[in-house]
Amino acid sequence: MRRHVPVLEQEVLTSLPHQTKNILDGTLGHGWHTQSMVSFCNDKKGEEVHIVWVDRDMDMIKKAKVFLWEAWVDNQVNIVQWSYAEFSKIVQETGKKEFDYMLLDLWVNMDHFKEAERGFSIKLDGDLDMRFDRSSGDSVKEWVAKTHFDELCSLYNKYTDFSQSLIEKVARDMIKTRKKEAFTTTQQVRKWAKSIWINDKRLAVIFQAWRIHINKELEELEFFLQNFYDYLSPWWRCAIMTYHSWEDRIVKQSFKQFVDNWHWILYNKKVIVPTWKEKERNKASRSAKFRIFEKKL
Ligand SMILES: C[S@@+](CC[C@H](N)C(=O)[O-])C[C@H]1O[C@@H](n2cnc3c(N)ncnc32)[C@H](O)[C@@H]1O
Repeated sequence: MRRHVPVLEQEVLTSLPHQTKNILDGTLGHGWHTQSMVSFCNDKKGEEVHIVWVDRDMDMIKKAKVFLWEAWVDNQVNIVQWSYAEFSKIVQETGKKEFDYMLLDLWVNMDHFKEAERGFSIKLDGDLDMRFDRSSGDSVKEWVAKTHFDELCSLYNKYTDFSQSLIEKVARDMIKTRKKEAFTTTQQVRKWAKSIWINDKRLAVIFQAWRIHINKELEELEFFLQNFYDYLSPWWRCAIMTYHSWEDRIVKQSFKQFVDNWHWILYNKKVIVPTWKEKERNKASRSAKFRIFEKKL
């Protein structure tokens, strides 16, 4: 099993205060960031931190358990399969009401693209699903079967840079085609895209828009940002890594409001991005942006 390569690992550790006792890793993935945070705190303090692992995807949690078995200490860890935004459930399940450090490393895990049956990849043949949590909500396949022209256009307007005429063409043709045959697999969609001269680059943008929509990615982030304040201990930090401009804009604006209204502190005045060396080494890190801020009383 190949492991997801962590992004800005050193920068995460630099922003983690040594005295941290309670960590919330809201996007566990393969658990690399978690592992380095725990060993960093244990090394510095010589005593154990408590960490809550959250991931919406049960497959990720299972894999993280395998990767982290050596670091596994039952009374040091709680695991929950929910969205990082569901604070009330996280508190209820773990009994932790406040955290000293919260980390969100958004976007997807590399495995999502590598496993055909998850339906994230335009290149592999799989079920048109794309949900992080396969136990709830509509898959892309189900949503595509019932969406309408206006909804498709509005989605492409938000999440693509396509011209208006291309947006309408893609939406109209999809509705027309699905009347003859339901879209159920990724390669069926790719074949359809080719038939209307949509290349793989553009299809990847369409897949991204569907993924963001089906997982309510921006809504979850907004909900987290409206509520995390109550669960962050005073003087401690919330750190968020984003991978596209829509997410980064939401984080930047929200942090700015806290700074303006509550005089909170931006830990990094300038957004942190990977060095060119890291970008060379790990192409997935290319668009990462990391913002951290600190809560005042
Ligand atoms: C980039 S990966 C995290 C990688 C991780 N930091 C590591 O070191 O392996 C993002 C993870 O967030 C999860 N995820 C996405 N949206 C989520 C949400 N709303 N709540 C919880 N987990 C989410 C995905 O399933 C994925 O495993």
